[in-house]
Amino acid sequence: MIRLLYFSQATNIISDEEVQNILQVSRRNNSSTGMTGVLLYGGGVFMQVLEGPEQSVLKKYVKIIDDRRHTNCQIIHITPTDERIFEGWSMGMIKCEHPLEFEHILDLRNQRKEVVRAKVFTDVMHDFLQRLKAGS
Ligand SMILES: Cc1cc2nc3c(=O)[nH]c(=O)nc-3n(C[C@H](O)[C@H](O)[C@H](O)COP(=O)(O)O)c2cc1C
Repeated sequence: MIRLLYFSQATNIISDEEVQNILQVSRRNNSSTGMTGVLLYGGGVFMQVLEGPEQSVLKKYVKIIDDRRHTNCQIIHITPTDERIFEGWSMGMIKCEHPLEFEHILDLRNQRKEVVRAKVFTDVMHDFLQRLKAGS
């Protein structure tokens, strides 16, 4: 399995309905390909974690980057893994009301030229998972 984290910029101001559409399709598709993850949206920025079989994740990522609802996809982190952080989430969703909520993740982005330490990444993701659970 692999885990991939990317950032992108929304091309328009996307309505809640449109984000719900993305989620609906993602949940349907991802459960049939053994993928899990989380999608964050706020302040015109998307961030998504995709985890699952390498072929499924990479194929899906290639499809996602061609989606006209966003642009400038940048991979922040990609790693082989035996463990899912988002077990049970065909695609979790966090709506960030304020771009500052991306603060932790943006820190990871700033470290992009270096190797992001696995522990830093895992801690940030666990933090988001807690928020997801708290919001459900
Ligand atoms: C930010 C963003 C994240 C997306 N995430 C997923 C995803 O996790 N899984 C998925 O199947 N499609 C996702 N999509 C939608 C894909 O780009 C594409 O529209 C969809 O996979 C096509 O599904 P279909 O072949 O069933 O029509 C995402 C799109 C955007 C803009």
